[in-house]
Amino acid sequence: MAATCRFSIFRHDAAADEAPRFQQYEVPYTEGLTVLGGLIHIQQRLDGSLAFRYSCRAGVCGSCAMHINGRYRLACETQVADCKLDVAVRPLGHLPIVRDLVVDMGRFWKHYQHIKPYLIPGTPPPAAGEYVQTPDDRARLDVIIDCILCASCYGACTTTAADPEFLGPAALAKANRFLVDSRDAATEERLELVSGDHGVWRCHQIFSCQQVCPKSINPPGSIADLRRAAIRHRLRRRAHPE
Ligand code: FES
Repeated sequence: MAATCRFSIFRHDAAADEAPRFQQYEVPYTEGLTVLGGLIHIQQRLDGSLAFRYSCRAGVCGSCAMHINGRYRLACETQVADCKLDVAVRPLGHLPIVRDLVVDMGRFWKHYQHIKPYLIPGTPPPAAGEYVQTPDDRARLDVIIDCILCASCYGACTTTAADPEFLGPAALAKANRFLVDSRDAATEERLELVSGDHGVWRCHQIFSCQQVCPKSINPPGSIADLRRAAIRHRLRRRAHPE
């Protein structure tokens, strides 16, 4: 008899359903089947109404992040075998549900935009057209630059659960990524952006975000770095008021 695995999937249409429910599916199991592969099978062969996001199927685009068997992960990188052929799937947390496993990412992107996630150099572009870095300066961006904006950290963050306006781990780690960048000249502006009521001081340093990051980024470490830099910035301003 062919092997099968079981999927229990959160279903909800915010525009039509009174309450969410979990729906069960039996899926043929073959070695190497990922959770995303199982979801695609369900959508294409069993139930075309199931909604979820994905794109690259290779852990690059970040669009397939969801809550799988008690933990936020990328569905395309999660083996059904590691779930013991019994998979329970829910959408990302702390974001409004649009339908099934699809959430409205608007709040996450709003916080991301807030920190100005782009290079702000202090000088016009050099004649060669590139702002160059030394290998050591570039090495300081390693790992921290690998964020794929999947929002797993946002879903796992307990502060975000209590304060929806908290900027969140991904946005704050990104702010630190530009603070560390030798080509960026907007340090004071960035520190002001992350030092408000919903910024770095709201983080409780519980480290849930670090535990779920599929790229091994350390947002609490970035937040601690931002806090130290913000304190130095405040002390400098106090010593030399404009
Ligand atoms: S589909 Fe792109 S990260 Fe999973």
